[in-house]
Amino acid sequence: MRELFIQVVYLAASVLFILGLRSLTRPDLARRGMQQAALGMVLAIAGTLVNHTIVDYRWIAAGLVIGAVIGYPMGQWVPMTAMPQRIALSLGFSALAATLVGVAEYYTEMHDGNVVATAKMAALGFEVLLGSITVAGTLVAAGKLQEVLPSKPITFPLQNLANALLFLVILVMFGWLIAHPAAQVLFYSLLGLAFVFGVLLVIPIGGADMPVVVALLNSYSGLAACATGFAIGNVILIVCGALDGASGFILSILMSKAMNRSFSNVLFGAFGSAPAAKGGKTSEGLTVRSISVEDAAIQLAYAQLVIVIPGYGMAVAQAQHAVREMAEQIEKRGGEVKYAIHPVAGRMPGHMNVLLAEANIPYDKLYDMDEINSEFERADIALVIGANDVVNPAARTDPTSPIYGMPILDADKARTIIVMKRSMGAGFAGIENELFYDAKTSMLFGDAKGSLTALVGEIKNV
Ligand code: TAP
Repeated sequence: MRELFIQVVYLAASVLFILGLRSLTRPDLARRGMQQAALGMVLAIAGTLVNHTIVDYRWIAAGLVIGAVIGYPMGQWVPMTAMPQRIALSLGFSALAATLVGVAEYYTEMHDGNVVATAKMAALGFEVLLGSITVAGTLVAAGKLQEVLPSKPITFPLQNLANALLFLVILVMFGWLIAHPAAQVLFYSLLGLAFVFGVLLVIPIGGADMPVVVALLNSYSGLAACATGFAIGNVILIVCGALDGASGFILSILMSKAMNRSFSNVLFGAFGSAPAAKGGKTSEGLTVRSISVEDAAIQLAYAQLVIVIPGYGMAVAQAQHAVREMAEQIEKRGGEVKYAIHPVAGRMPGHMNVLLAEANIPYDKLYDMDEINSEFERADIALVIGANDVVNPAARTDPTSPIYGMPILDADKARTIIVMKRSMGAGFAGIENELFYDAKTSMLFGDAKGSLTALVGEIKNV
């Protein structure tokens, strides 16, 4: 009876996880998706708690308290701009859990003098290997994103060769362990070497590339959880580990694609490291036209169609609420405002969608790049708010540019372009942007939130 209850609850949890993931593909259903996934997790925990193999609930109670003390502040008070490192830390915890389960299971088998079956040893070894790499990798990633570790790539001669050799050694040890499960020294050495490999894998990657790395580590931690499920015969771990592994992998591929970079380039290219990247044109001899808040307000007040392009700078300035207020003023005067969302605008997937949703901007006004690009030609104003690389025409025109080939938002095709940023400083890729020197472009310098607030007041007065 108890076993039937557990299996039914696990099945319901699995269905809720899948529905949750599905809902997360649409901004208007994303909140519901999170609720479905959270309910699935409550069911999974409930099913696990009635498991007959639990003989003492004290450690579980302690874990619940410690987890709540760490998890609640992380969910409640970490700002949106620090979300990538928060996610990295959460992943680190889940990978640590998988690793510890593997170690505990192996220790118990050895302690009881059992002979570990080959399939179980393979699952345990795989779980500990991936789990340990992920714990180390996510800690380094979180440290780089938070800038407690140098966010620049840390490189040394023959690094890729050294990493490849270490990986080979780990694989040989793994194979040996499957053949000789009683070799305890091998098991614990594998654990330690996998941790070192996790550190070495992530240190040569620039801080700004960390979101892609975190997505990849997400898939590792999912696979580690899946292996845990096989090792201890737990269905829900197999299901949600597989879901996690697959979705993390797909996400990292999509992110790399949207940045027009290959996986190997992200992992071994040391991109985004230095502010001045190689290649690309310089701004010598070109002039920049700046515009006052008053003049920008007049243009916006009389525009029929304004396409807003939010970018990383909007997130830094936390200007999303001011964006909505400005849009309301334009709409009150009969203009239309649409939002163009680039898949890698900001620093994490869905960054702009989340911020604009937080400011209650209706989802149906948010357009993906493919949907909106054909509309720029009829837009009176493309209003670029703290975006840079995602509107850089060099991606189309300059084969020497490091972002050449990356699909961009066609802001340069609008009748006029207003760019809001604080200086002529570069974006993530560290390169000049010729859009800022275009004859149709005006620069509205200043912090995005301050400029937008001033614009709202001025548009009211027009
Ligand atoms: P970026 O190219 O990084 O440019 C952001 C701009 O915002 C900067 O040029 C900066 O100029 C401006 N800015 C910063 N603070 C500001 C503030 N308070 N007020 C106004 N402006 C401010 O941003 P993007 O166009 O969104 O492009 C994203 C980049 O990140 C892409 O290269 C992408 O490949 C990369 N990336 C994205 C992701 C994901 S998943 N989204 C992950 C990793 C890397 P000033 O300093 O002059 O103000």
